[in-house]
Amino acid sequence: MTVGEAGSREAGPRTPRPVKAGADDPVEVRMTVNGTPTVLSLPARVTLADALRDHLGLTGTHVGCEHGVCGMCTVLVDGEAARACLLFAVQLDGTDIVTVEGLGRPDSLHPLQESFGRHHALQCGFCTPGFLMSSYDLLVNKPDVTEEELPEELSGVICRCTGYRNILTAVDQTRRAHPEGIPGPGNCVRTALVGRAGQGTDASGGPDEAGDTVSPSVQDIVLPSGDPTIAVRITTEIDLPEDRVWGVLDDIYLLARCLPGAELTDDYGNGHYAGRARVSVGPIKLAFNGVAQILEHDREAGRLRAIAQGQDTGGAQTQADITLTTEATGTGTAMHADAKVYLTGRIAQFGRALAGDVSRRMFEQFADAVTEAATSGQAPSGPVKAPSALSLVFAPLLDRVRRLLRGAGPRRRSGRDKER
Ligand code: FES
Ligand code: FES
Repeated sequence: MTVGEAGSREAGPRTPRPVKAGADDPVEVRMTVNGTPTVLSLPARVTLADALRDHLGLTGTHVGCEHGVCGMCTVLVDGEAARACLLFAVQLDGTDIVTVEGLGRPDSLHPLQESFGRHHALQCGFCTPGFLMSSYDLLVNKPDVTEEELPEELSGVICRCTGYRNILTAVDQTRRAHPEGIPGPGNCVRTALVGRAGQGTDASGGPDEAGDTVSPSVQDIVLPSGDPTIAVRITTEIDLPEDRVWGVLDDIYLLARCLPGAELTDDYGNGHYAGRARVSVGPIKLAFNGVAQILEHDREAGRLRAIAQGQDTGGAQTQADITLTTEATGTGTAMHADAKVYLTGRIAQFGRALAGDVSRRMFEQFADAVTEAATSGQAPSGPVKAPSALSLVFAPLLDRVRRLLRGAGPRRRSGRDKER
């Protein structure tokens, strides 16, 4: 579409609600994003693009010019293409947003995404989300568009790699393959949102019904849809009764002391916490500030589930969905830690294998610390340090020495049941 037309068609389908607030005053906005209702409390100056990327972890929406010119940030607002950099999130209360993450799944791509891959329509890929969302909007609203009209119709998105020829071919082939109209977005499903209702699913309960006073920053946790970067399962056998282990799991402050490199900094109530965590591997040192929420704490069922999100100043972001389960064995307690970890930004440079090693090592250290705390009834004697590159290399040797030294004391055996 032309830039001029973009102004009329991409300006958004509804008159934005008037918002009177200081630039930094938080304003509540409810949106359905890729099929998931969510509530955010955002300063009025936050654009939709920043809300999606920074507050919901949906970094598929790219930002180029931030002036409405390049089209990189194109998303659907109530079914119509819109520049996410030109809209303030707080103006969009009650809207339905679809981003490129909602278009298709890695294991089931949208036909447009398939076609972009098949026709080599992505070079650096920076413009790809904007082109996908713009061409989706075009084919939905103008299914009879001709091949000749495509260059002008799609001219509202700029490809700095100048890969236009293949992009136009990909869109044209999708149009030809679906003369009856292209399929709708294929990944708009409810995901595990943590809204103000604090139920870890969606925000339908709303803050007023829930009556809670959770800090705004805690409301922003949302786990990405799709596969995690890393999935780890660690099983630990502790030669102590389940009750003793739950003596640690029941005490969130004690539990936090067992997390490598982590500290609890605030308790917002209602199962919401703020904290800090440090991770260092070789030259990469990251300090995360984050929030966490206990979703399930059931001693009877032997199950504790928490989700957490942290961000460092360099933009690295990590999110995790962690479930601890315990079961009595003949001689003690088996504790399983299942973690799904999502990494974006600088931390993703670790690579999947190394990040998997770091995560596994952290959970092993955590299990060691829980064992120590359950045995002594106190926090571990020193701070539990985050794993270093050296500790990863020597971890197997250290484990062996530790087992030998532990002698007749309560044993803790750890095994990696499964890692993907
Ligand atoms: S970033 Fe929004 S149009 Fe360029
Ligand atoms: S593929 Fe690089 S900007 Fe378009």
